[in-house]
Amino acid sequence: MIRTVLGIETSCDDTGVAVIDGENRVLANVLSSQTRMHSDYGGVVPELASRSHSRNIVHVFRRALDEADVDLADVDLIAATRGPGLVGCLLVGLMVAKGLAWATDIPLVGVNHLKAHVWASVLDRSPRLCTPALCLIVSGGHTELMLVEGEDSVEGELIGGTRDDAAGEAFDKVARLLHLGYPGGPVIDRLARTYRGELIDFPRPMLSDASFDFSFSGLKTAVAVYLEQRRRGHDCTGLGEAETARVAASFQEAVVDVLAEKTRRAMRETGVGTLIAAGGVAANAQLRERLAQVAGDAGARLIVPPPEYCTDNAAMVAAAGHRRFARRGADGYGLDVDPSLSLRPAEDG
Ligand code: KG4
Ligand code: ZN
Repeated sequence: MIRTVLGIETSCDDTGVAVIDGENRVLANVLSSQTRMHSDYGGVVPELASRSHSRNIVHVFRRALDEADVDLADVDLIAATRGPGLVGCLLVGLMVAKGLAWATDIPLVGVNHLKAHVWASVLDRSPRLCTPALCLIVSGGHTELMLVEGEDSVEGELIGGTRDDAAGEAFDKVARLLHLGYPGGPVIDRLARTYRGELIDFPRPMLSDASFDFSFSGLKTAVAVYLEQRRRGHDCTGLGEAETARVAASFQEAVVDVLAEKTRRAMRETGVGTLIAAGGVAANAQLRERLAQVAGDAGARLIVPPPEYCTDNAAMVAAAGHRRFARRGADGYGLDVDPSLSLRPAEDG
């Protein structure tokens, strides 16, 4: 029986190690974020990220065991993200996981990071995944609508995805245009909360399209064009605090409109009783509010993890790993990273 799972997450710019129990209760969820380092560059620098993971991971691992008050000998399963993500970053986490597993004989499983975001919905809440459900997965690299019909597994039909930029990517790029640093989502979220005035009418891409696909690069360009025109008209470079907040709030409103309305239609068409929101952008306050309305109007329940479980963390990797192990057993030491893993593979759980 699995009573204690160690999770390791290093797919991008957060070094995470977590310990959960067999019922998905989080005993420790330690994260060392590199955002300050990457902020100077306006985005993640892969080589700096992987070096930083290898510098920090042992320290983060020790802290997680300390906080959970468990010894490595008490751990029954080790789960590490194997993709998607930056290859050098993934390798650090998976190699540490393999080393630990080999030295202790604890079974090892590789985890699909995108599916782990969906598994965040069970943390501190439920031993099992609530399916069938419509899942809106919105992160830095992905915007997907998935009808999850697997029994306690993230398996099902991908009904929509982004044709260009992901939602989180759009937040990060617009924040860059506004000189707000990286990552852009949390700053835009905060600024938008303070803004009360009139909004700029940015386009809602693909809203009138019948598919469940998304596209955000045109919206980002519309913001860039607006800023350029305004700079020319005012003959100055600085935007001012109020105008920056106005652009941030207007951009966010457009993104949330598209995400919420497409999700509303998908709820209607699929007729499922549960909506799960996952990924870093699901930490957004306005999106959470709108999705609550969408679910309420559909008579469905919304499961959206607390913000700290929406953004990258290792507890979700541990939860995903536990269920994958229960269904398919351990992986061998030949397990490799896959930087371009998608939501599709059924065997990833
Ligand atoms: O899931 P995540 O932590 O990492 C990936 O797997 O990509 O998502 C990161 C993305 C970034 O683009 C970040 O700007 C965005 O999520 N994000 C947010 C918020 N918090 C993080 N976007 C909007 N509002 C937020 N509060
Ligand atoms: Zn992620």
